[in-house]
Amino acid sequence: MSNKEIKEKIARLKKEKNAVILAHYYVDGEVQAIADFVGDSYYLAEKATTVSEDAILFCGVSFMGESAKILNPEKKVVMAESSADCPMAHMVDVEKIKEVREQYPDVAVVCYVNSTAEIKAHSDVCVTSSNALKIVKKLPNEHIFFIPDENLGRHIAEKLPDKHFIFNDGFCHVHKSIHKEDILKAKEVHPEAMVLAHPECTTDTLSVADFIGSTSQIIDYATSSEKTSFIICTEMGIFYELMQKNPEKKFYSVGHRQFCPNMKKVNLENVLESLEKMAPEIELDEELRESARKPLKRMLELAA
Ligand code: 13P
Ligand code: SF4
Repeated sequence: MSNKEIKEKIARLKKEKNAVILAHYYVDGEVQAIADFVGDSYYLAEKATTVSEDAILFCGVSFMGESAKILNPEKKVVMAESSADCPMAHMVDVEKIKEVREQYPDVAVVCYVNSTAEIKAHSDVCVTSSNALKIVKKLPNEHIFFIPDENLGRHIAEKLPDKHFIFNDGFCHVHKSIHKEDILKAKEVHPEAMVLAHPECTTDTLSVADFIGSTSQIIDYATSSEKTSFIICTEMGIFYELMQKNPEKKFYSVGHRQFCPNMKKVNLENVLESLEKMAPEIELDEELRESARKPLKRMLELAA
């Protein structure tokens, strides 16, 4: 089947099944192009609570579909690719949370949405890279256990010196592989370019960034800036929207490692297959879902 035929079939099936397609900026551009809504993790979690269709087809990694299901139990949430999972989501365990709670009874467990439903269920509030600072600032607790991402945690901690942070050693392998030395080399070739980086990058890498933000914030910054060239320090899927919105501007990558193999498992073929079968569906134990819903709801309230 040609790409054109696949796209036509997807459009037809979407109507027939009363489904809406949500996609993250890191999936391939051709998948972003057929989605109804494309955005960062926060936008997608929030959007999932307002769509009117009976079913959500998620083009992203597991924790994103899980969050959509946790917040909308009455909807069918189908993943384009069930094996697309974020390794960072598994880089903390419940035992560690219990240990920290025992050691610091006043602690707030702040959980980056890149986490499993089980971890969320043991946390006090969820955050994404676009709202972590705003939310942690609002918490009354002195001690903050930031899980699973150490880099985002350190980035926030630097801005909140009155809080006492406890870090976890989780990381995103894609952002960790974007090195400061490679950015400096790219700067030598493009000295006029601004460096825009995602806070999942290491502290060392962030030290040479002109702007730090979530995927949406990076796109908004580049779009509203008077500058015309940018070195982009995040996953390469973002280039699609950057170029759609700014065809006259220049965007440079730092190297060949800005590639999330899990996000790239999503393609037009598996979107079509999932729509045909309305599977694989996200299914969660009701007790787990209810416990994981609380920190996600708190995020939506505090971020509003
Ligand atoms: P945002 O979409 O919140 O910027 O997060 C990036 C990411 O790594 C999602 O997996
Ligand atoms: Fe996970 Fe990193 Fe891929 Fe995002 S880019 S899904 S944090 S591995």
